[in-house]
Amino acid sequence: MHVKSNPIFVALDLPTPDQALAIAQQVAPHVGGFKIGLELFTAGGAAVVSAVQSLGADVFLDLKFHDIPNTVAKAVANATRLNVQMMTIHCAGGPDMIRAAETSAQETAAAMNVDPPLILGVTVLTSMDQNQLQSIGVNQVVEDQVAALASMAMESGLRGLVCSPLELNRLRSILGPELALVTPGIRAASDALGDQKRVMGPIEALEAGATRLVIGRPIYASANPAQAARSIAASIGMD
Ligand code: C5P
Repeated sequence: MHVKSNPIFVALDLPTPDQALAIAQQVAPHVGGFKIGLELFTAGGAAVVSAVQSLGADVFLDLKFHDIPNTVAKAVANATRLNVQMMTIHCAGGPDMIRAAETSAQETAAAMNVDPPLILGVTVLTSMDQNQLQSIGVNQVVEDQVAALASMAMESGLRGLVCSPLELNRLRSILGPELALVTPGIRAASDALGDQKRVMGPIEALEAGATRLVIGRPIYASANPAQAARSIAASIGMD
């Protein structure tokens, strides 16, 4: 395990910007950043991104772009202009879409004189099981489809992926040490699982090769979010 900056990104899966910002203010001193997903972004738009940034925090914009390369490139450029540090695309968009996303991030950031955001590929959603995959015409087993999409994404120039904690070992060994691997499904032994079935503790996930941890309910649904964030950070030597 080799962590330089605080790897914890808190998923702000809350219905309104006010509720999200109240949590963000409490936990910002203990975490590396916040994940803003479809629910919060469609409620609060660019304004909620900048409100979170005004706390001094990094933002992971998790909108999972999947469209023709030209459209994705333009959305990535706009997200880069929001100064976010990470964003997601679907690997299933294919090599041309992935290349267009990565090129757009690099070129837009260069024009702004900032570091390019990390574009992360989503492989197979964990809501997809073998039956769901077959119904969209994919006959491989889930793990092989994850590995195939991940390899294709790396060959197309992507520098990072979102993955389940249980995929970390395999992806790290197939794809090498440079790749960023961002994982949700993180629970301390004392946390409720909620709907997460395949979970790992924060230390285990970092040891298995995760570079960032996305943690939602164990922090924002805690009776004391600041304390919850502080104690997870302390458990990985970050507080
Ligand atoms: O509350 P919890 O810690 O389970 O939140 C995890 C976050 O990561 C949520 O924003 C969820 O949408 C996201 N996520 C996940 N599992 C995946 C992909 C994303 O839990 N396979």
